[in-house]
Amino acid sequence: MADNKTHKIILKRRSIRFFKQKEVPLKIIKKALNCARLAPSAANLQFLEYLVVNGSTLKEKVFNCLRFAAYIAPKRNPPKKQAPYFYIILLVNKEKSAAPNLRDIGAAAENIMLSLLSFGIGSCWLQNINKDSLNKTFDLGSKYEIDSVIAAGFPDEAPKLETDSRNIKYWLDGKNRLHVPKRPLNDIWHYNKI
Ligand SMILES: Cc1cc2nc3c(=O)[nH]c(=O)nc-3n(C[C@H](O)[C@H](O)[C@H](O)COP(=O)(O)O)c2cc1C
Repeated sequence: MADNKTHKIILKRRSIRFFKQKEVPLKIIKKALNCARLAPSAANLQFLEYLVVNGSTLKEKVFNCLRFAAYIAPKRNPPKKQAPYFYIILLVNKEKSAAPNLRDIGAAAENIMLSLLSFGIGSCWLQNINKDSLNKTFDLGSKYEIDSVIAAGFPDEAPKLETDSRNIKYWLDGKNRLHVPKRPLNDIWHYNKI
């Protein structure tokens, strides 16, 4: 079978919460946002916009609005020397849709994360965020609603995929490596009947 790069990238993607402090070219971030632009959109409303944050003072403010890995908190809060290198704040432009279809956001976010990973950049999509504080930081007003944040940068951890029918909670081993359980394929696919 042909070597399928996209397939491999999908298998490789794990949420990354520890990052190298190595520059990520804006050109690459814009390529990922272009992939978000091209994601499927219900009724093609295209209500999503993206606020990229990579200035040091602003980054610290965004960092303070995020909650990492709730099941094992605070053990996966990145220390300052492994903090995300940049953020993408996903914004709903309410003038484009008063009732945004959440499926659009999922499709766009996954496109962003997979595109970034194709350039070696890891990410974590976060919804456990202090939206009021973020809103004030960027003075977003009433036109935009914050949906979520993608924290990203070159990975400084290598989470391990596990297969587990029952446990859904990721865990840390004695070497501080994150293990992420996923339900087995045979538990989730059905063929012609349930
Ligand atoms: C909608 C959504 C919201 C999430 N919010 C957070 C979050 O606030 N903080 C966090 O550390 N991870 C968050 N995650 C990442 C999940 O914890 C992660 O996807 C899950 O543990 C599976 O790991 P994987 O991404 O490596 O497959 C979120 C993921 C999704 C899809």
